Amino acid sequence: MTEQDFLTVTDSRTGQEYTIPITDGTIRSTDLRQIKVSESDHGLISYDPGLLNTAVARSRVTYLDGEAGVLEYRGYPIEQLAANASFLEVAYLLIYGHLPSEGELAGWVEDISMHTFVHENIKDFMQGFRYNAHPMGMLLASVGALSTFYADANVWDNPGSTDLHIRRLIAKVPTLAAFAHRHNLGLPYVYPDNDLSYTANFLSMLFKMSERQYHPDPRVERALETLFILHADHEQNCSTTAVRVVGSSHADPYSCVAAGIGALYGPLHGGANEAVLKMLVRIGDIGNVPGFIDGVKQGKERLMGFGHRVYKSYDPRARLIKQAADDVFEARGTSPLLDIALELEKRALEDDYFVSRKLYPNVDFYSGLIYQALGLPQEMFPVLFALARTSGWVAQWLEMVHDREQKIVRPLQIYTGDRGLEYKSLTGRG
Ligand code: SDX
Repeated sequence: MTEQDFLTVTDSRTGQEYTIPITDGTIRSTDLRQIKVSESDHGLISYDPGLLNTAVARSRVTYLDGEAGVLEYRGYPIEQLAANASFLEVAYLLIYGHLPSEGELAGWVEDISMHTFVHENIKDFMQGFRYNAHPMGMLLASVGALSTFYADANVWDNPGSTDLHIRRLIAKVPTLAAFAHRHNLGLPYVYPDNDLSYTANFLSMLFKMSERQYHPDPRVERALETLFILHADHEQNCSTTAVRVVGSSHADPYSCVAAGIGALYGPLHGGANEAVLKMLVRIGDIGNVPGFIDGVKQGKERLMGFGHRVYKSYDPRARLIKQAADDVFEARGTSPLLDIALELEKRALEDDYFVSRKLYPNVDFYSGLIYQALGLPQEMFPVLFALARTSGWVAQWLEMVHDREQKIVRPLQIYTGDRGLEYKSLTGRG
């Protein structure tokens, strides 16, 4: 039994000394409540806007070391998974905690392919959107609508039922994502082709026209599979936290994933890949890069696709995405914006403003260039992020609902408003 580590604190208000246990490098925030100035005092509370320094869960899903630039899914380095695994294999690993056997993988792939269709009412529902509705908004709404088709959607403690909902989500999100894209183009929706791989089927639903069967370029298919693997999970990021918070009330997994899509939509999070492309288009020419960098340093705007709350070194995913980009550009032709992106990275990594703030390219800096080379509009970039992250969201949701330490999330606040005001009639308000 290791000696218990502890923190000794003295409250200057009372001179009282307290001993607080340290476990796994943390103290329990509720251990602060014993620190009071009077019996009626609620006790000390920790204040951490943005949860900059607060662990909210014990998790076995993903390991991150931001300083060393290490990312592992269930203990497997992301580099090995990106090089050797399929996306569905990685999704299985994240959700069930181990690499599937051949039989497990075959059953998993078969199950997923059996659930790729959506109820025709969902298709009608999506037809109600304006032609130019943002596909992330369409995905958010249609994934949330899925919950209305399954009476047992919020039965969280029946493994059989939960497993089926998880498979439905992994299988149907690509279909809804592709339907949203086709809706924007005014093209007929392409139904799933279950003879194709998960990723090839998604590409078919996006791009198939009058050909009998769609066959993607293998280089494009593998590059997209790699991108899905790299985006699958990332510990307690903003959107995963949204999924966990909504799930803590025992809401159904479809509503939880819809909440994750909503959080991912923001330009500071998954919407950054779309914001990067808009930024590159606005810079327009490699000659404008120095002026743009100066504007960032003057605080006029941010270098989108750079910086990270956890990574204070090169995001390992950005390096692997850059390699995947080469395959796509070989197959589909390069992008003039790539030269601007490479120049931005080169200058930023040599500039103390960025180096001193430990701002490096993150997962979103190069991914948009690949999606653009695939022929997708910028608005679809966060949709592809959400498609891949659905596997991580459901893995984290499943872990959370079975974690006995977890309760419904209900944080406290520091109240700074008025108190005890007298109601004034409408005429008496001046
Ligand atoms: C994702 O959490 C995850 O794991 C997320 C993610 C995942 O897989 O789920 O990795 C995916 O969201 C990646 C991040 C994508 N977002 C962007 O690329 C948007 C641009 N980056 C940022 O806005 C910012 O870096 C964040 C939001 C990513 C992180 O912000 P933090 O940790 O809250 O840092 P901060 O805003 O407090 O900035 C610290 C300093 C500030 O300067 P000072 O006030 O100290 O002078 O760094 C500056 C910021 O102004 N800064 C930037 C910058 N990011 C931070 N300056 C210029 N360009 C940037 N991109």
